[in-house]
Amino acid sequence: MLEQIDQQAQRLMWEVRQQTLQLMTKKFNVAEKTSARDLVTTVDKQNEKMIDERLKTIDPACRIVSEEGFGDQVDDLKGHVWIVDPIDGTMNFVMQKRNFAIMMGLYVDGQPTLGYIMDVVEGTLYHGGKGMGVFANQQRLHTPENKSLADSLMVMNGYLTMNNVHGLQKAARKARGLRMYGSAGIEMIYVLTGCLGAYVSHLHPWDLAAGRVLAEELGLVVKSIDDDHLNVLSSNLVLVATKQAGQDLLTIAE
Ligand code: IPD
Ligand code: CA
Ligand code: CA
Ligand code: CA
Repeated sequence: MLEQIDQQAQRLMWEVRQQTLQLMTKKFNVAEKTSARDLVTTVDKQNEKMIDERLKTIDPACRIVSEEGFGDQVDDLKGHVWIVDPIDGTMNFVMQKRNFAIMMGLYVDGQPTLGYIMDVVEGTLYHGGKGMGVFANQQRLHTPENKSLADSLMVMNGYLTMNNVHGLQKAARKARGLRMYGSAGIEMIYVLTGCLGAYVSHLHPWDLAAGRVLAEELGLVVKSIDDDHLNVLSSNLVLVATKQAGQDLLTIAE
């Protein structure tokens, strides 16, 4: 059953990519949610509507958590729960028309099970699941080299670079270089493919769900920095890293 769901979910991701590319060429509306730094567009909403409607036919008994409000009210992780980000990196989508992603992850009874991150402009779907491996389109990904923090590029989100949270600025100075791409999905992809050794950010459920499935399947570290364990349904300060870079960073962090 999961295999069938996976095939259909992959097809859906390509169709949503196609819709996004089409809608991008026309005028779309941009609105502020909480501030000028927090945007939503009509494309986010159209994508989410399409994804949520289709998931209900692909996986009829599922419940959906999705960013822009078309999903269900979900308070527990019983059964099949999909977590959806219809455009991750909306600011990049609006300002750059690149460096954004579409993401969805399936959790079964709370277990990270299937994950999808579509780099829309590159046309690459990162997908896989527990026990299935991780692929970039058809190509299988291998666990990235276990680099130390000192030998790694690292991403921290803007807030963490400007405020000293858990001594993370010290960790950033230890890294070989600091980067910031403005899309959790793109940043996850870079950890999955070994371009980054460590990624630290405050993440909402839809920022984390897909990447967590894929990173764990590749044997990478996925950890909450300010809590003992990750809560999939709430926001967390999250570390995704190689084993060594993760250990280096946690040793430095307070
Ligand atoms: C945001 C991006 C950004 C991250 C924020 C996210 P959105 O997602 O991934 O890189 O720093 O925490 O909320 O709102 O564009 O889907
Ligand atoms: Ca958002
Ligand atoms: Ca997001
Ligand atoms: Ca989003």
